[in-house]
Amino acid sequence: MRGLLAAVAAAGWVAACGAPPPRAPAQPIPFSHRLHAGQYRMGCTLCHAYAARGPVAGIPPTYRCYGCHKFVGTDKPAVQKVDAAFLAGQPLVWNRVYRLPDHVFFTHERHVAAGVSCQTCHGPVETVDVVAQVAPLTMGWCIDCHRQRNAPTDCLTCHK
Ligand code: HEC
Ligand code: HEC
Ligand code: HEC
Ligand code: HEC
Ligand code: HEC
Repeated sequence: MRGLLAAVAAAGWVAACGAPPPRAPAQPIPFSHRLHAGQYRMGCTLCHAYAARGPVAGIPPTYRCYGCHKFVGTDKPAVQKVDAAFLAGQPLVWNRVYRLPDHVFFTHERHVAAGVSCQTCHGPVETVDVVAQVAPLTMGWCIDCHRQRNAPTDCLTCHK
């Protein structure tokens, strides 16, 4: 609980100092989920490969993009930028949209295994060009669902 108390103090400090974080941060490439996951029906775990296996879903490395974009859409300036970054060995630095404070433990794996869909927490991602934060990520939000679904609600489930 000591780490948690320090985090509470830190969270208070952040709240006192700044505006809330942006809900849809700027990205290096205008990557569209509507196009890839919607129109072209690519499954979420094709790119977010670890969601069913571990805590973090994972953002695809640029070589995954290049695997298609070596051949596809090469007339598009944004695609040329992706390919150039890959060939130059420069990673695309995506900015996080969903982030919990460090004192909270979350794991994708258990939620996916329990049949909670990506969209339950992230909204209809396959319909949007820009991913924005749709769920509040508050403790109350987590606990409400845990109560409804008979998932654990003791403090140490989410605070290690
Ligand atoms: C072709 C690859 C690809 C597919 C398919 C894909 N995504 Fe993504 N996803 C990305 C990339 C790249 C980012 C980082 C850029 C951004 O935030 O838009 C991302 C970001 C996200 C984020 C925000 C992550 C953060 O920073 O917090 C969520 C949530 C997400 N995707 C969910 C989904 C869901 C749900 C699906 C299926 C409906 C899906 N994605 C399909 C590539 C993909
Ligand atoms: C499985 C194949 C596949 C993968 C993997 C893939 N894309 Fe695409 N992407 C496509 C297709 C198909 C199009 C549509 C091309 C067209 O309209 O000519 C596209 C279009 C695009 C466009 C152009 C949008 C426009 O109209 O200007 C961008 C930018 C893009 N993708 C970025 C990415 C990035 C970044 C990644 C990796 C995170 C990625 N793609 C992964 C297949 C893929
Ligand atoms: C129970 C709610 C929930 C479900 C279901 C869920 N997510 Fe998440 N997702 C979150 C939370 C909360 C975070 C922020 C985690 C953190 O900061 O530790 C997150 C973060 C992410 C991220 C960015 C960080 C990372 O883990 O790579 C991606 C990408 C993502 N989710 C994709 C997905 C995909 C794809 C699915 C479905 C296979 C999915 N999520 C299912 C709640 C959920
Ligand atoms: C929409 C419903 C839903 C939401 C929202 C949700 N969870 Fe869960 N959570 C579940 C379910 C269902 C399980 C699986 C319980 C099981 O495996 O028996 C679970 C399991 C977990 C586990 C694993 C528990 C264990 O047994 O060790 C953790 C950790 C967890 N959730 C944390 C969180 C956190 C943190 C948040 C908020 C950021 C959150 N959850 C939001 C439904 C949800
Ligand atoms: C299902 C997950 C979950 C459970 C169970 C849980 N918490 Fe949390 N808790 C969170 C999340 C997510 C946050 C960060 C978001 C927020 O502050 O609302 C948080 C934040 C906190 C904070 C910091 C508040 C702040 O202002 O930053 C404290 C203190 C806390 N929890 C205590 C507890 C205690 C005590 C319990 C047991 C009675 C508990 N939590 C159970 C998910 C959980």
